[in-house]
Amino acid sequence: MMQKDAPIGVFDSGVGGLTVVREIIRQLPSENIVYFGDTARVPYGTKSRDTIINYSEQIVHFLKTKQVKAIVVACNTATSYALDVLKEKLDIPIIGVVRPGAVTAVNATRNKRIGIIATEGTVGSGIYPKVIHEYNPEIQVVQKACPLLVSLVEEGWTDDPVTDEVARRYLKSLQASEVDTLVLGCTHYPLLRKAIGRLVGDGVTLVNPAYETACSLRELLKEEGIYRESGEPSYSFFVSDGAERFSNFANSILPVDLVPTRLVPIENY
Ligand code: DGL
Repeated sequence: MMQKDAPIGVFDSGVGGLTVVREIIRQLPSENIVYFGDTARVPYGTKSRDTIINYSEQIVHFLKTKQVKAIVVACNTATSYALDVLKEKLDIPIIGVVRPGAVTAVNATRNKRIGIIATEGTVGSGIYPKVIHEYNPEIQVVQKACPLLVSLVEEGWTDDPVTDEVARRYLKSLQASEVDTLVLGCTHYPLLRKAIGRLVGDGVTLVNPAYETACSLRELLKEEGIYRESGEPSYSFFVSDGAERFSNFANSILPVDLVPTRLVPIENY
């Protein structure tokens, strides 16, 4: 197999990373993709740094058995805690979702007030303020952890009054800070984009880091000379639990028909 034809490995704690896969399929339509969702161990957002590094290393070992040519950490929490550690050990390119999202937000804000909604882990790591301040130290960054939103998305309650009410309570403090740009800093949250958009109104620009991540991925693959420009793509999906449930969810949000999702005993990797 030519290096260009090797798949891109993408992973997340569950279904959230599919929002990134969706963008990769749109923007890099010939790339082959292998996705892993750690559905047995979701959520990541409330777990410790060491645990997330351990999980991420296992997943990378698994993806390497699929001969991936590059890896996308399609999880903000894993990006916050594990990306630098993984980068040091890997001999293939790897990118996360935080920097692309942060850069988009810096370019979007007009009043220099950016809101971040993310998991407890991502918020606690301070990674978004750190990266945003690398580009512009004057920007005020207001963060809010919204842990329940992950469970609601995994439950499939993306269009539900209960979810609307939970989001309303979380977003109240951010709205008081008058942010004009809001980063959906957890890959699960773009699935709640409509509800969040309704709550914050048209005056607030919502940033979905998935879009910029796919752009950055294309640039990276081109630089490395491994971008697959043409040909029919193939997609494989793996999870650590609940394969059928995952397939149903994935089928509802991806623009392609999926082959069945397969189970992986991820702790063996
Ligand atoms: N979707 C992931 C993120 O972007 C993780 C959510 C979770 O498992 O808590 O942070």
